[in-house]
Amino acid sequence: MSDAPFLQACRRQPVPHRPVWFMRQAGRYMPEYRALRERASFLDMCRNPDLAVEVTLQPVRALGVDAAILFSDILITMEGMGIRAEFAPGPVIPDPVRTRAQVQALRVPDPEEAVPFVLEALRRLRRELPRHIALVGFCGAPWTLANYVVEGGGAKEFTRLKRFLYEDPEAGEMLLHKLAATNTAYLVAQIEAGAQAVQIFDTWAGLLDPDDFARWVLPHVQQMIAEVKSATAGAAPIVYFARDAWSAAAHLKACGADVLSIDWRTPLDLARRTLGADIAVQGNLDPAALFAPWPLLQARADAVLARAGDTPGHIFNLGHGILPETPVDSVRRLVEHVHERSTPGGRGTAPPRPHRSGSPEEAA
Ligand code: CP3
Repeated sequence: MSDAPFLQACRRQPVPHRPVWFMRQAGRYMPEYRALRERASFLDMCRNPDLAVEVTLQPVRALGVDAAILFSDILITMEGMGIRAEFAPGPVIPDPVRTRAQVQALRVPDPEEAVPFVLEALRRLRRELPRHIALVGFCGAPWTLANYVVEGGGAKEFTRLKRFLYEDPEAGEMLLHKLAATNTAYLVAQIEAGAQAVQIFDTWAGLLDPDDFARWVLPHVQQMIAEVKSATAGAAPIVYFARDAWSAAAHLKACGADVLSIDWRTPLDLARRTLGADIAVQGNLDPAALFAPWPLLQARADAVLARAGDTPGHIFNLGHGILPETPVDSVRRLVEHVHERSTPGGRGTAPPRPHRSGSPEEAA
C-alpha cells in the first residue's frame, strides 16, 4: 500500500490530512509555465517528455499539492485515431468527424505507438516524485471527446454530436465505442507506466438529460472503468468527473468509479447523502472563489470541508479547472489552509460560520 494521502482518500481510508490538488493546476496562471510556453507550443510541451515532466512538477513545487497530474490534454489520443487536433489555445479539429465513412476509418491505436511520450513522462515522473505525492493520469470520456471531434473544436452550444446521434445512431455509437476503446487502452498503459490513479474527464456530460446520459454516456464509461480495473487488477483508483451532470445523479454511481469528482453546483453534503458511504468524493470549491480576498476564500474553503464532513473519502479540489489569471499565491495559501485545517491537532473542521467579505476570519 502506498503512503500517499490522495490514494488513501480514494480508497476511503483515514488520512493524516485532507489531500488537495487542482484540476488544471499546471497552466498559464503560473509564471513558470508562461516562461516555458514562450519557447514551445502547447503540443510541443505535451510531446516532449522533458517539458511535460517539468510542467507537471511546477505546481507540485509551487503549491505543495498532494497529487501531480500528468501535463497533457484529453485530445492527445486523437492523432493516433486519425483525427488531427490543434490548439489555439482551445482545441481545433480542422477536419471534423461528421459521416459514417469517417467513423469507420478511425483507428484504435496502440498507446505505445501513438503516445510513447506520455508513457515516458509518466515513468520519469514516478521515479522523481516522493512516495507521498500521487501521480494521476487522465483521459477524456467518450462523450466529451466525441463532442469536440464532431463539432470541430470548442463551442458555446455543442449541437452537432446530438444531431449526428439522431441522424445516424449506429455510426454515433461506433464513434463513442472507438473513443472508449482507445482511451481504455490509454488508461491501462498509463497505469502500467506509473500512474497511481486516473481521472476520466467528462466536461460536457451536462449537455444531456438523465435518460440520454444513461443511453450515450454511462455504458461507455462503465465499460471503460470495468476494463481498466480488470486489466490492471484494480491497481489504481479511478475518478470520474461528470461536469454539470447532477441531474443524472441516480446514474452516476453506477459507473463503477472509486471517486466521483463533483462540480461546485452540488453541495458535498448532498452528494455524500445521495451517493452513500461506499464511494469517495472529490471537490468542489468554485474556481472563481480563488479571486476572493483571503478571508472570504478561507471561509469558502472551510464550508467545503464542513460539508464534506469527517467521514473518510474526500479529496479537496475545485469544482472545475483553475481559471487563467488566478493568483498563484491564493492557490498556495489554500493548500496550506486545507492541510492545516484538516490535520488532527490542527484547527479541526468546525461547521461553516456565516461569512461576510472582508471579515478577519479567525485572526486570533
Ligand atoms: O490539469 C492539469 O494541469 C493537466 C493538464 C490538462 C490540460 N488539459 C492542459 C491544457 C488537463 C487535465 C486537460 C484536460 C482537458 N483538456 C479537458 C478536461 C478538463 C476541463 O478543463 O474541462 C478539456 C475539455 C480539454 C480541452 C482543452 N484543451 C481546452 C478547452 C483547452 C483550452 C483551455 C484554455 O485554458 O484556453 C485546452 C488547451 C490546454 N490544455 C491548455 C492547457 C494548459 C492551454 C494551452 C496553452 O498553454 O496555450
